[in-house]
Amino acid sequence: MTMSSIELRPEDYQPRPPAKKDYRIGVIGCGGILNGAHLPAYQKFGYRVVACTDISEEAVRRTRERWGIPAGSTDIRCVLENPDVDVVDLAVHANQRLPVIEKIAAARKPVLSQKPFAMNWKDATTMVDLCEKAGVKLMINQQARWAPAHRAAKLLVSRGVIGHVYSVMHVNRSFQDRAGSWFVALENFNIIDHGIHYIDLSRYFTGRNPLRIKATTTRMPGQNAVSPMIFTILLEYEPSAQVMTTLHFNNIIQVPKLRSYDWYLDGTHGSIAVNQSELTVQFKDQPEYQVFQIQGTWFPDAFGGSMGEMMQALAENREPETSGRDNLNSVRIAYAAVESSETGKTVEF
Ligand SMILES: NC(=O)c1ccc[n+]([C@@H]2O[C@H](COP(=O)([O-])OP(=O)(O)OC[C@H]3O[C@@H](n4cnc5c(N)ncnc54)[C@H](O)[C@@H]3O)[C@@H](O)[C@H]2O)c1
Repeated sequence: MTMSSIELRPEDYQPRPPAKKDYRIGVIGCGGILNGAHLPAYQKFGYRVVACTDISEEAVRRTRERWGIPAGSTDIRCVLENPDVDVVDLAVHANQRLPVIEKIAAARKPVLSQKPFAMNWKDATTMVDLCEKAGVKLMINQQARWAPAHRAAKLLVSRGVIGHVYSVMHVNRSFQDRAGSWFVALENFNIIDHGIHYIDLSRYFTGRNPLRIKATTTRMPGQNAVSPMIFTILLEYEPSAQVMTTLHFNNIIQVPKLRSYDWYLDGTHGSIAVNQSELTVQFKDQPEYQVFQIQGTWFPDAFGGSMGEMMQALAENREPETSGRDNLNSVRIAYAAVESSETGKTVEF
């Protein structure tokens, strides 16, 4: 392959609404992410939101007014017993999820649940079993898989452009140590809640689940967060896979100039580096390289992509790509990373 033969067209990697997009959405949990990403994406993609609920009356009122949602109440039945609702979009926190999923399963409505799916293994497996037993389709909103930059990189990898990928590395330098936010109050937020995106993306890029996990974390003196905001997680696979993953996430970078977000995928024929706006690819033994500007953004476009996948799965009566059962693989890695960082031991599956 030559550099000039690489094609990367936005229409190949940008999330798009599915052919049948008239499923009517009912939302549970009208907080920050619902108003900041879900609903802007649904408006952009032409999806219909017909009802919303939250335990806060003010949150329901504000959300209905802003997005012109026809029905809304603090009574969850306005979504779950509403015959107009075809699919539930669940955006409460993970530690509030189990009792809500019990009600959704009893109402037999398909559900797209925000990540992280659960804060512990028992809740995660209980919710997957509950939905399966009730015949309810459950998808976890690992929408980073639909972010244009991540999809573009995955597309080139799947086409074999860089050959066998033997190393996947993520370096993320960000800042979420904000006093008063829910992030800093949530135990193991950086690994289990935010970090689950990068753990899930490691599965997306490698197409594999690891055999061994080793993690280390630290705290910044005087930090606000109750748990470490810095981690390095190493993922080892079966030897024949000949690949390793390194995830480094420092979420307490105090200087904006030195924050960054990069993935490096190294293959036998060449390497790809991708951030949210640019993808660079170069082949071994060739001086030239190519830089593609990524069209579209993770927030909010990817949220239209994940809901689109849910609708497509409903239309085709199949499991969605990031089903609850599939997501058990991602949350298991996150819990193992916490265990490893606390015990200093490698966790083996
Ligand atoms: N990229 C992403 O995917 C992304 C980004 C941010 C947050 N999140 C996830 O989304 C979830 C919510 O985060 P947020 O920032 O919107 O939080 P938030 O606190 O702003 O909103 C949560 C909302 O849920 C409501 N709520 C709580 N219990 C409820 C119940 N039983 N029934 C109905 N409503 C209930 C709260 O009143 C609140 O309005 C978290 O799991 C978080 O990790 C995901």
